[in-house]
Amino acid sequence: MRIADFALERYFARWEFAVKHVLGASDVEGWSMAELLELADDETRAMWSGLKLGYTESTGHPLLRAAIASLYDSVDPDGVLVFAGAEEAVYCLLSTAVEPGDHVIVTWPGYQSLYEVARAAGAQVSLHALREEDGWALDVDRLRRSIRPTTRLIVVNAPHNPTGMLPTVDEWRSLAATCAEAGIRLFADEVYRFLEHDGAETLPAGADLDERAVSMGVMSKSFALAGLRIGWLATRDHAVLERCARMKDYTTICSSAPSEVLALIALRARERVLARSRAIVAANLAVLNEFFARRADAFSWVRPRGGSTGFPRLVPGGPAGSSADTFAARLVEATGVLLLPSSTFGFGDSHVRIGLGRTDLPEAIEALDGFLTRGPDV
Ligand SMILES: Cc1ncc(COP(=O)(O)O)c(C=O)c1O
Repeated sequence: MRIADFALERYFARWEFAVKHVLGASDVEGWSMAELLELADDETRAMWSGLKLGYTESTGHPLLRAAIASLYDSVDPDGVLVFAGAEEAVYCLLSTAVEPGDHVIVTWPGYQSLYEVARAAGAQVSLHALREEDGWALDVDRLRRSIRPTTRLIVVNAPHNPTGMLPTVDEWRSLAATCAEAGIRLFADEVYRFLEHDGAETLPAGADLDERAVSMGVMSKSFALAGLRIGWLATRDHAVLERCARMKDYTTICSSAPSEVLALIALRARERVLARSRAIVAANLAVLNEFFARRADAFSWVRPRGGSTGFPRLVPGGPAGSSADTFAARLVEATGVLLLPSSTFGFGDSHVRIGLGRTDLPEAIEALDGFLTRGPDV
């Protein structure tokens, strides 16, 4: 398969482990092993200490699939397929759910694999642009108008990376109803689900709204365990998972045994795990709202409604300049603070992604603030 480079991952490959502060990260500060193991119940503690490091069940450990299924109202454990992160799930789903010539609509700017894998599979991809002037809102009517007779799949990431977009429950239901009526599969990338900034706004999962819809989740973001590399697809349509399972035979075959047990521990203790993530994000959001109010000369800021990222724009003529690429390059060289310029989303040169999930954010913002005050050439 020929596929374009994943620009964001290439940028991270260059910088992520060479800098002091990854201010552009999308994950939440990871748990330590010791703290996570303290959350184990009797059963999972015994599973951990008696774990044999052989191959695991290709579909995922039955207890893990049951814990994942409990995140949904209408998905049973057989409607869950476990993957190595969400990224493998994206790859397996998009490379099996569309045929050459099929039309796919994907929210944009966004996580590149959500449209790139579909393109590589031969699909015609329409990007549904979120517009800053609309507060990055999903425009369901406009999206509906881009449906063609050949549209097979609509891919929506919500809460959204990088903008923090979160549709209202009504918008979300109406989109799912449109998909159901038109026989189009909704692929709901819900990796930031449970990180809605107003907890009352958690959307019903796509898989609960339509029997053909597929929801995707992962341990990396809301559950703050990116290093486990455990993600999943959840759906009532078991046939689509069957096709993904056949593709997974060519990618990882099965998940890492220790990661499955650790993911199970976290999911069983999910209220505590999610409360920690929400507290980190809420504290960082307060710092950012204050910073962006004070530095309106440099950035314009649409407050994110969910997830662990935001997407401020550089104000032309302001102290950050007008090129996100140039600003991010100068900032990282001078301070070791890494932002993600919008070119890594193929989305112009005016925005940067900022992450809300890392505990060193206040320190990173202080360094960024100092850099702005000193001027880029200092
Ligand atoms: C919207 C979205 N989907 C999928 C993924 C992939 O998640 P993971 O890296 O845990 O596989 C990411 C990661 O940043 C993401 O932001």
